[in-house]
Amino acid sequence: MNITFNHFIILLLGFLINKCFTQDVKEVNEDPPKENVDPEDNIPMLDPDKDTTPSTIAELTDCDNLKLVLSSYAEVDKDWEIHTMSCCDDSRYICKVINGKTYISEINLSFHYLNGTISNHFGNFTNLEKLNLNNNKLTGPIPEDLKYLSKLQYLYLSSNNLDGNFPSFIGDLTNLRVLDISNNEIKGTLPESLNNLSYLQVLSARYNLISGGITDFFTNTPNLTMIDLSLNKFEGEIPESIGTLTNLTEIHLNNNNLKGSIPSSFSKLENLETLYLSFNDLSGQVPDMPRSLQLCGFKGTKLCLKEDAVCGLDTTPICALNNKKFFLTIILIILGIVVAGALLKALLLLLKERKKRIERSKQSDQVLLTGGDDDFAEEGEFIELKENNDNGRNVVEVDEDYIFHPRNMHKFVN
Ligand SMILES: *[C@@H]1O[C@H](CO)[C@@H](O)[C@H](O)[C@H]1NC(C)=O
Ligand SMILES: *[C@@H]1O[C@H](CO)[C@@H](O)[C@H](O)[C@H]1NC(C)=O
Ligand SMILES: *[C@@H]1O[C@H](CO)[C@@H](O)[C@H](O)[C@H]1NC(C)=O
Ligand SMILES: *[C@@H]1O[C@H](CO)[C@@H](O)[C@H](O)[C@H]1NC(C)=O
Ligand SMILES: *[C@@H]1O[C@H](CO)[C@@H](O)[C@H](O)[C@H]1NC(C)=O
Ligand SMILES: *[C@@H]1O[C@H](CO)[C@@H](O)[C@H](O)[C@H]1NC(C)=O
Repeated sequence: MNITFNHFIILLLGFLINKCFTQDVKEVNEDPPKENVDPEDNIPMLDPDKDTTPSTIAELTDCDNLKLVLSSYAEVDKDWEIHTMSCCDDSRYICKVINGKTYISEINLSFHYLNGTISNHFGNFTNLEKLNLNNNKLTGPIPEDLKYLSKLQYLYLSSNNLDGNFPSFIGDLTNLRVLDISNNEIKGTLPESLNNLSYLQVLSARYNLISGGITDFFTNTPNLTMIDLSLNKFEGEIPESIGTLTNLTEIHLNNNNLKGSIPSSFSKLENLETLYLSFNDLSGQVPDMPRSLQLCGFKGTKLCLKEDAVCGLDTTPICALNNKKFFLTIILIILGIVVAGALLKALLLLLKERKKRIERSKQSDQVLLTGGDDDFAEEGEFIELKENNDNGRNVVEVDEDYIFHPRNMHKFVN
């Protein structure tokens, strides 16, 4: 037992020593050939620094900086280092010669099992245009040093475990075309500085923990073609100003807490092909959509569609009457009933009044004439009695011919 354990320890020590030794050897072995091979390979970047200033640490070249960056990630194999070639000869890095100096313009380290935080030294690639760190295991916040990448056009940080707030320094990367931070655990709100990104074409923050409103951050991004803020915690209403982004072909806002209705300005998005708004608190009628729309999702909302909608008819209910119209109709019907009732009542009152008057006149106010066929007045004719306001006495108002007929004269002469 004791012996085997000791053996084991010795074996382990031996292994460790061996490992250290071989590593040392590797490094020792590597350096000389590099200096020898460099001139033959015609690598403009490594030559000047190594030849002119071998002892004083002058400006770090991009390849040196890359070495520094990669030293923090155990998993990256540095083929170019081992094989004594420039990092520019590695297909993962693309270089550019500017004023006789070589710079890295693109870095693609996606699917490299990178863990730990994003190295601050990434901020040192002054001519970097594309940085792809998609699909790694990177953690922590997006480092502020990335703001020095003033030439950066494409930033891919998707599918990592990044957290911290949505960085507001992103507004300093004024050349950004594509920003993809999807599938992380980024919190906070959309920074106002997004408005600085006038070249932005694609913004994807899909599947994070971002909250707050989607306020008017897109007034200065006319070239935006795709916006994906789905699967977050956005709340409030969809801003009307999105309707001014006429280059938009895709809008993904599904699975948030958005409320209100779809702005009518969406009708003007004449290039819109995809619109996903499912699983939000949205309600009301989907406005007239451009003919270009092909894919849409309104599931899990209270939205409804017009019968002639260009998209989504199979899954979304047709609007009956929209709420406003419904209430207006109800109010009009009630008003109609009230008016009709009043009119009927007035009519009945009128009829009743008329009937009453006839009855009254039959009783007292009128004299029914009777008499023989030689009577001047026709039989059954009425002579109306009128109130005389001067002396308060009732006066019979009769036809002149009737009064002066000899038969009747005696009735009127006092
Ligand atoms: C980046 O690297 C990944 C993995 O090696 C590869 O699949 C992908 O095609 C590369 N992307 C570009 C633009 O070269
Ligand atoms: C990264 O992963 C390696 C093994 O894959 C591990 O040894 C190392 O501790 C990890 N680093 C961090 C910062 O998690
Ligand atoms: C570049 O790297 C050096 C040395 O690591 C560092 O001191 C400096 O702050 C970096 N510069 C930028 C702009 O990140
Ligand atoms: C970006 O926008 C912020 C305010 O939103 C502003 O303070 C800053 O100066 C802008 N940066 C650039 C480089 O335009
Ligand atoms: C928008 O894109 C067009 C065509 O790619 C380009 O010419 C123009 O400069 C861009 N405008 C802005 C404000 O980025
Ligand atoms: C965006 O639309 C404008 C006109 O509204 C147009 O001039 C510009 O070229 C478009 N940009 C792209 C990238 O299509």
